[in-house]
Amino acid sequence: MLSDKKVLVTGAAGHVGQWTRKCLQSKVGLLRLSDIAPLKDAAENEEIRPCDLTDAQDLERLVTGIDYVVHLGASLNVDDWPETLRVNIEGTYNLYEAARRAGVKRIAYASSHHVIGMYPVGQTLGLDAPMRPDSLYGLSKCFGENLARYYWDKFGLESVCWRIGTARPRPGEIRELSTWLSEQDYERLLLRSLQTPAIGFLPVYGISANRDAWWDNGQARALEFEPQDDATRHAQPILDAPADSSAQRRYPLQGGKRAEHRRAAEPPTGGDGGRG
Ligand SMILES: NC(=O)c1ccc[n+]([C@@H]2O[C@H](COP(=O)([O-])OP(=O)(O)OC[C@H]3O[C@@H](n4cnc5c(N)ncnc54)[C@H](O)[C@@H]3O)[C@@H](O)[C@H]2O)c1
Repeated sequence: MLSDKKVLVTGAAGHVGQWTRKCLQSKVGLLRLSDIAPLKDAAENEEIRPCDLTDAQDLERLVTGIDYVVHLGASLNVDDWPETLRVNIEGTYNLYEAARRAGVKRIAYASSHHVIGMYPVGQTLGLDAPMRPDSLYGLSKCFGENLARYYWDKFGLESVCWRIGTARPRPGEIRELSTWLSEQDYERLLLRSLQTPAIGFLPVYGISANRDAWWDNGQARALEFEPQDDATRHAQPILDAPADSSAQRRYPLQGGKRAEHRRAAEPPTGGDGGRG
């Protein structure tokens, strides 16, 4: 029963954070909303608590009394190492450690499909496919998933790790016909993640029931996540877009643009600078 649960949402001011707030507001006992970006208009059962994930002490206060955390706060910057290290790696560690100390029962962690973004488009992946991150961002999400596993194995803190595809109102390009997660299916995933009795450590692809999906959630059956939307229903405007438009762009790798992004070339640090 969620109505007697206290739930913390990090990154609550962001795009998925707003979906989360809308979904949980009427269902949980207490909704504690946190971000470094402004949040306003707290409902009766809501608390607004600004907090930077890099501030470990403040995080300790933030998680006090909480049953479940929905951890969305992150830097989505491509290949910005200092920011990725600070927010996604250190911040996620800070959160897990504070949650362990406070006796939090479960964390729903927003991972990303960029943990497997270097696989070629069209290859079907189960949840046991070895990680192939496509960016420092994707790499930080691999860290987050492993951190979640570690906190379950060692301390019994449960986690469901959502490998979110593309969470947006409608798919906007060819690639998203495979990766799309609708708002209603996100809500289904969120609620199953909080309501399923025993979850342990469980990764799951956060996608709708897309006909052209590349990911198979068979190993996450225990969650009983049953998405209902299919990106194909929104395909026509994408298919009608001009052949040279971004909507029509076909990427070779599942991570799309992030997988293609290359950091600026730097001079070799020694030797022949090659791969040997
Ligand atoms: N939207 C998607 O399609 C998608 C896909 C894959 C994964 N994800 C993951 O889902 C989560 C939410 O994504 P989103 O699209 O809502 O992103 P978003 O950028 O809209 O929201 C992220 C939030 O984190 C907050 N944040 C950044 N640094 C912080 C810090 N130091 N302390 C506290 N808060 C901080 C930001 O202010 C922002 O409100 C992220 O973890 C993201 O990696 C999203």
